[in-house]
Amino acid sequence: MEIRKICVLGAGIMGHGIAQVCAQAGYEVNLRDIKDELVEAGIARIKKFLSGSVERQKMTQAEADAVLARIKGTTDLDKATRDADLVIEAIVEDIDIKKQVFREIDKICPTETIFASNTSAQSITEMAMATKRPEKFIGMHWFNPPQLMQGIEVVVHDRLSEDTVKTITELCHKLGKVPGICRDSTGFIVNRLLQIWYNEGLNMYDEGIAEPQDIDTAYREGCGFRMGPFELRDMVGLDTGLAITMTHYREYMRDQFKPPRCLVMKVRAGELGRKTGRGFYNYEAKS
Ligand SMILES: NC(=O)c1ccc[n+]([C@@H]2O[C@H](COP(=O)([O-])OP(=O)(O)OC[C@H]3O[C@@H](n4cnc5c(N)ncnc54)[C@H](O)[C@@H]3O)[C@@H](O)[C@H]2O)c1
Repeated sequence: MEIRKICVLGAGIMGHGIAQVCAQAGYEVNLRDIKDELVEAGIARIKKFLSGSVERQKMTQAEADAVLARIKGTTDLDKATRDADLVIEAIVEDIDIKKQVFREIDKICPTETIFASNTSAQSITEMAMATKRPEKFIGMHWFNPPQLMQGIEVVVHDRLSEDTVKTITELCHKLGKVPGICRDSTGFIVNRLLQIWYNEGLNMYDEGIAEPQDIDTAYREGCGFRMGPFELRDMVGLDTGLAITMTHYREYMRDQFKPPRCLVMKVRAGELGRKTGRGFYNYEAKS
């Protein structure tokens, strides 16, 4: 099957970046969120990224304009998905909301449209079975920021067709990405591994062993990580991070996945990281 038009649901941290990567590879993209201002904010972030690329001479102004022209923002779910060959879902990390949206678009989209979820830890099988097209429902787990990170975990399950796997794997290559196949399981490969590393860093802070900046420095300078656990949690979003940790804890029932207290308390305080201007660090002065 040939993909020509892609719909991305959710214009947040991941959705805007995924839309940009697809448009840069020449695909027509519909970017959908639930409010006009969220769609506009997503498109503004794409514009900012593209201007930076033009300034750094990574692309010409004409190329940047062409990328933007291929992205249409909307809040209209029907309009966004009706003529898409592929829908990539990047909305909140809540399986009930995700299943509800997939049920809705299952009625709107032609039977050949492929559905992909960018969930970090929810079950691809469970979402697939909420639709009438499990053979066309796949996991496509991108990394943050999608414009820069090369990997995509392609998550497969028993009801999926070989054809869908082939189409999505080929698409990843066309997008300039490196796909890796993983069977459906909580956290797939990368998040299952990273949860333990992140949690242990946050636990050390809860135990009063060191401050966030010192733990982050140790991860970067001592272990060769690009970011420490607090910096990374702030970039991912603490609400999303807590949802992912809870899913692992419920599924594997092991203490190493138990959400650290400092993460729970930050989410309760509404300090969700970079996206709200404050998380483990304060970004308000910079924005
Ligand atoms: N943040 C990361 O680093 C990261 C990395 C990989 C995967 N993910 C996954 O990607 C998904 C999105 O995460 P994010 O960090 O971009 O979240 P986010 O909070 O930045 O954005 C989510 C967006 O989805 C929108 N949304 C909510 N309900 C919607 C609906 N019914 N229809 C359309 N849009 C809706 C919200 O308005 C919001 O703009 C989650 O499943 C998350 O686990 C996140």
